[in-house]
Amino acid sequence: MEQIGRKIVRLESVDSTNNYTANLIKGGELVHGSVIMAVEQTNGRGQMGAEWLVKPGENLTFSVFLDNVNLSVNYQFFLTRLVSVSLVDFLAKFNIPTAIKWPNDIYVNDKKIAGILIENKVSGSFIQKSIIGIGLNVNQSDFGNLEATSLFLKTGIHRSIDDVLFSFIKSLNTILEGGLTNPKLEDAYLKRLHLLNEKSSFEDKEGLFEGTILGVAPNGRLRVEKSRGEVHYSLKEIRFIR
Ligand code: BTN
Repeated sequence: MEQIGRKIVRLESVDSTNNYTANLIKGGELVHGSVIMAVEQTNGRGQMGAEWLVKPGENLTFSVFLDNVNLSVNYQFFLTRLVSVSLVDFLAKFNIPTAIKWPNDIYVNDKKIAGILIENKVSGSFIQKSIIGIGLNVNQSDFGNLEATSLFLKTGIHRSIDDVLFSFIKSLNTILEGGLTNPKLEDAYLKRLHLLNEKSSFEDKEGLFEGTILGVAPNGRLRVEKSRGEVHYSLKEIRFIR
């Protein structure tokens, strides 16, 4: 895939960089690899309809546009996996050890440092265009009652948001060179997967249960060992109980 970051658009304020990117794509105005970042999002969106609320100017909120992705919808998880691993690798450069809470929340211990919202445009059964929205907490020091952390809280150093973005783009380009189906990504993802092979508490439609995460199926479903055998879950079908 060609280089990410060939074009970088910096917005002072926008509802959501993912929405803005989607509109530019509709207008046919955006080239593959464009990055849209915003100092402030007034309606930052998270997974499953949640909000992404961070202090303006203190964090990275941006979207990356991938064109001609050509990935079967059955394997859309490969995008999630690649972006999750790119964030984990990137944060490791700052000596921040992270875990991936399936499918794509990036945690340091019990606190979230980054989140990913990927929105795809599908033609037939293939993903053609992808908007990869990333929120990465950089300089924020107070998250109120949210269980969240930032690069600053973990390293004690304030950083330029732009420098962090450029440096992340480099990591992403390196990983993309290996391709979305690179088998190394499977190992890298599983190595960081929170609660892998540990007996833990969950809830599904049948109620609370003790189970063990065994991995992630190629279609992105979480593989969990329950007393009656292995069950595969989509995001809405299982809840982690701490
Ligand atoms: C999550 O963990 O729930 C996903 C959060 C994704 C937030 C980013 S910030 C940039 C992009 N624009 C959005 O509206 N959301 C994503």
